[in-house]
Amino acid sequence: RADEPVDRLGRGLRDLRISVTDRCNFRCRYCMPREMFGRDFEFLARRQLLSFEEIERIARLAAGLGVRKLRLTGGEPLLRRELDKLIGALSAVPGIDDIALTTNASLLTPAVAAGLREAGLDRINVSLDGLDDESFRAMTDVDYPVQRVLDGIDAAADAGLGPIKINMVVKRGTNDDQILPMAEHFRGSGHILRFIEYMDVGNANRWRLDEVLPARELVDRIAARWPVEVLPPNHPGEVANRWRYADGQGEIGVIASVTQPFCGGCRRLRMSAEGKLFTCLFGSRGYDLRALMRSGASDEQLADALGGLWRRREDRYSELRSGEPGDETPADGEKKVEMSYIGG
Ligand code: GTP
Ligand code: 5AD
Ligand code: SF4
Ligand code: SF4
Repeated sequence: RADEPVDRLGRGLRDLRISVTDRCNFRCRYCMPREMFGRDFEFLARRQLLSFEEIERIARLAAGLGVRKLRLTGGEPLLRRELDKLIGALSAVPGIDDIALTTNASLLTPAVAAGLREAGLDRINVSLDGLDDESFRAMTDVDYPVQRVLDGIDAAADAGLGPIKINMVVKRGTNDDQILPMAEHFRGSGHILRFIEYMDVGNANRWRLDEVLPARELVDRIAARWPVEVLPPNHPGEVANRWRYADGQGEIGVIASVTQPFCGGCRRLRMSAEGKLFTCLFGSRGYDLRALMRSGASDEQLADALGGLWRRREDRYSELRSGEPGDETPADGEKKVEMSYIGG
């Protein structure tokens, strides 16, 4: 359609990832290390956050520009009060056909899961980096029983939010011994376990290439135990490469943004909880849509700003970096935005 913008690399706008808070009750080493996100870290204040009305307005305008899928992220999105009200508003936006949530599941009780589903949430992705409490603690840096995350996954499935995608970030030497136990646990469950290459997002995690377990090696390890066959993508630009167990026990995914970047099909726009727009996960500055909105801009002016931002876009960070260590600064030389701020 003529009013749907295309960026400089020919990519349309289809997904909007909306962060609703920069706070989290976990302190995953690869995302919010305690050294940086300690007691005196300044999170966004309440007045800085976009209201639900403001988020709904942007989502509506984004849908007019081609967005079909919304994903709510954080930090931990379930820390935002009355999230079900936001989901209810978003599910009434014309053009949106998929509303998803990425969560650590720690707050996902049966009542919360049922409320989210009732409000119109279609599905959830749950972060879980290991099955034994020790590995889990090494990754998340919190004392939290894995069983409670598994209970959260069950609650979501019972509420009709399945099949659920389980995201496991793999760090070589820290939790790669959990690959096979995790695969075994979720085989045949109907859920989709996805292994994620540890990425050089932000500056806080002090990423090192030798801690990345390349997707190829990961798939080899699984296939040595349970043969797998490649599956075609569900849609162009899908983040995960899909595989199925040859014995019919379900599907796994591998998100190989370091060794097999997928910028070519990237149709994702990200918005921080304070209304800054990022056309790439590895951006630095962000476009301040909140300032424009709160200065009294009309819908038309806001849509023009959104469309213009997308048309100027030429991001393909992961392809440019493509495994070159040391080459981690964005083109403008500024500090990269943190994962917990932009929502992954
Ligand atoms: P589905 O719609 O269920 O496929 O979700 P998703 O994979 O797009 O979202 P999710 O929040 O579960 O993200 C899984 C992992 O993929 C996280 O580590 C994200 O940071 C990463 N990811 C998602 N989108 C991008 C992207 O555009 N670029 C890069 N480099 N990584 C991404
Ligand atoms: N590399 C890869 N994945 C990450 N995530 C957070 N930080 C990183 C990183 N440095 C994942 C979380 C969550 C998703 C939104 O992003 O585990 O599943
Ligand atoms: Fe929290 Fe998710 Fe970041 Fe872990 S990865 S600290 S659960 S936002
Ligand atoms: Fe999209 Fe940037 Fe990720 Fe490439 S690195 S897939 S452009 S968000």
